[in-house]
Amino acid sequence: MSLLEVNSIDAGYNTGQALFDVNFSVEKGEVVSLLGRNGAGKTTTLRSVMGAAPPTVWEGDIRFDGESILPLEPYNRVTHGISFVPEERRLWPNLTVEENIQVAINHSPNPKGLEEVLSYFGVLQEMRERRARNMSGGEQQMLAIARGLAANPKLMLLDEPSEGLAPFIVRDVEAVISEINDAEDVTVLLVEQNAVMAMEVSDRHYLMDQGKIVTSTTPSELREDDTMRKKYLSV
Ligand SMILES: Nc1ncnc2c1ncn2[C@@H]1O[C@H](COP(=O)(O)OP(=O)(O)OP(=O)(O)O)[C@@H](O)[C@H]1O
Ligand SMILES: [Mg+2]
Repeated sequence: MSLLEVNSIDAGYNTGQALFDVNFSVEKGEVVSLLGRNGAGKTTTLRSVMGAAPPTVWEGDIRFDGESILPLEPYNRVTHGISFVPEERRLWPNLTVEENIQVAINHSPNPKGLEEVLSYFGVLQEMRERRARNMSGGEQQMLAIARGLAANPKLMLLDEPSEGLAPFIVRDVEAVISEINDAEDVTVLLVEQNAVMAMEVSDRHYLMDQGKIVTSTTPSELREDDTMRKKYLSV
């Protein structure tokens, strides 16, 4: 049994359908990425797994740990062990690093401790009292991931964590994702346009285009396959 099974979902917005028969699975302990260009349906897929509306899932099923989670509200999906780090990060700008993490701890049924969370984020340990609005993009991304980890998830959904970050900061984000995956056995479903970054941290990839999964592949296959990269990705 896979940790996450997305079984033939159709989903969309009041403006129209965005996902067509999307089918994939993630095994416990894996880092799996969904890759594709703007508008491919990556965020819609993550939001469907989290139960964040819109979109609405019209057809198919989403199973987590063997159970259908489609009827569950997002909060109940958090309770089941899913945490979502959205692209726009949604930090509380006036709260400090510690306070942002503490709010997540206070809202989680089975949280990690503050110090355990911070132990993965060297850069945050040096700015515990800093307000989120006074942090760089890379630091804010680290804090967003730290907040996601505070809920003590079995599965973390990360939406474009490398977006807008300088390449050397992207390396730090890669390292922290791999470390959390190794040390905590947190399964990761990563969405990226940055295939280079995704190839560094993922065990497997699914490529999306126009609301469909077009193929599944591995980092080594994708590195070799210029045609596939050019067709579905920007690099
Ligand atoms: N809130 C919304 N209301 C209506 N349509 C939406 C909404 N969000 C996304 N869409 C549409 O759904 C489709 C898939 O968008 P989605 O945001 O999932 O793509 P994406 O792969 O995450 O793209 P990007 O890499 O630009 O973030 C697009 O056609 C988009 O216009
Ligand atoms: Mg997106």
